[in-house]
Amino acid sequence: MSNIFSTKPVSELISETEGKQGLKKALSAFDLTLLGIGCIIGTGIFVLTGVAAAKFSGPALVLSFILAGLACVFAALCYAEFSAAVPVAGSAYTFGYAGLGEIWAWIIGWDLILEYAVGIATVAIGWSGYTVNLLKNFGINLPAAITLSPFDGGVINLPAILIIGLIAWLLISGVRNTSNVNGTIVIIKSAAVVLFILLAVWFIKPHNWVPFMPFGFNGVVTGAAYVFFAYIGFDAVSTAAEEARNPQKDMPKGIIYSLLICTVLYIIVSAIMTGVVKFTAYGTPAGSAAPVAYALDQIGIGWGSIIVSVGAICGITSVLLVLMFGQSRIFFAMARDGLIPKAFGKVDEKRKTPALSTIIVSIVCALTAGFFPIGIVAELTNIGTLFAFIIVCAGVLVLRYKKPDMERPFKTPGFPVVPILGILSCAYLISGLQPVTWIRFAVWFVLGLIVYFAYSIHHSVLQKEHKDVA
Ligand code: ALA
Repeated sequence: MSNIFSTKPVSELISETEGKQGLKKALSAFDLTLLGIGCIIGTGIFVLTGVAAAKFSGPALVLSFILAGLACVFAALCYAEFSAAVPVAGSAYTFGYAGLGEIWAWIIGWDLILEYAVGIATVAIGWSGYTVNLLKNFGINLPAAITLSPFDGGVINLPAILIIGLIAWLLISGVRNTSNVNGTIVIIKSAAVVLFILLAVWFIKPHNWVPFMPFGFNGVVTGAAYVFFAYIGFDAVSTAAEEARNPQKDMPKGIIYSLLICTVLYIIVSAIMTGVVKFTAYGTPAGSAAPVAYALDQIGIGWGSIIVSVGAICGITSVLLVLMFGQSRIFFAMARDGLIPKAFGKVDEKRKTPALSTIIVSIVCALTAGFFPIGIVAELTNIGTLFAFIIVCAGVLVLRYKKPDMERPFKTPGFPVVPILGILSCAYLISGLQPVTWIRFAVWFVLGLIVYFAYSIHHSVLQKEHKDVA
């Protein structure tokens, strides 16, 4: 039983991957920052802001973004310490294996399925909202039956399913979100955000900011827990550890810079959005599906709305690519360790991509995106990610005491205050989510433990090594 807490030596993790995949070590701190932004700016800022403003935060949306951003900064500093010490693909799952022990690695890996796979569904639904809205501008009106989930008055969200299929196909054919493509997309979507700011800032009517907190401070916290989704992705920088030129120095920079840049943009956008249009308007179907475009339409800048929509759709597509790639990487690492069936780590001989796991992931995500509303899946993604952040922050704390001599090229500043604040602030955000989300998460967690004790523990490569030694 004590074996479930056995850890993998960092040196073994690194040598396991080194050279094997032949990945070019080409990414600089700048590329890593772009990679982070590539995964961060997407459905969260372009879509979820609408519902958050209308239902939870009101004009205090800007406070919600500050609260959620703060929790992420603490977590990012902890991620930075881990990713510099264990620069291996697999993100928090690998950190868990190196520092906390197999059972924790499993819990994180299981949890990251919520962040990545359910996140993919959330992002795809956001993509669908923008695309349907954009087509409307060109006189193409797709019926609600094929563009909304049964919860929202439709039958199936076909565009969301189609985009997931397309991304899976691209990834299976070997297309990678290479740093050049990523750089271009980051410029396009950041330009869309900046264009929105420049066009809309002149139309702010301060009376729209009153009342500032129509749903009280509890509403602001719930709003923060909801828009937290917009920040997810800075942690994905750590999945590129093996491709970084100087991971120990550059990964912390990539993680922290990308988060800070997006935080500033988000705070400005949310203040402008609630300043130009009354927050209640974002509760309408058009206002909630594509709120940033909607705001521009409302102030009479139709052409701006179209350009921003195109930028948003490009940006959201790149988030999908990174998330699906990240999920297949995590499954790959888990399968290599024997915790999930080897089939998940199987690489297609011809294309050198993990085709089977990509297909399985895309089918599950497509079904989720096709039949569930964005609110349910976004909250589930958030609770899963927040929980992973808590384990990472706790991991930094525990490891400083358990392995004081471990090499740490980047150390979380303000120790132990920062990791503790990370744990508390993420837990606080979880408290703002709906109780039904807690229950769903608990069910997922228990299911994970059942799978671990029924399957993983018996197939784990590390457990077998232990037995052989014994
Ligand atoms: N932060 C990413 C998004 O908002 C996941 O789409």
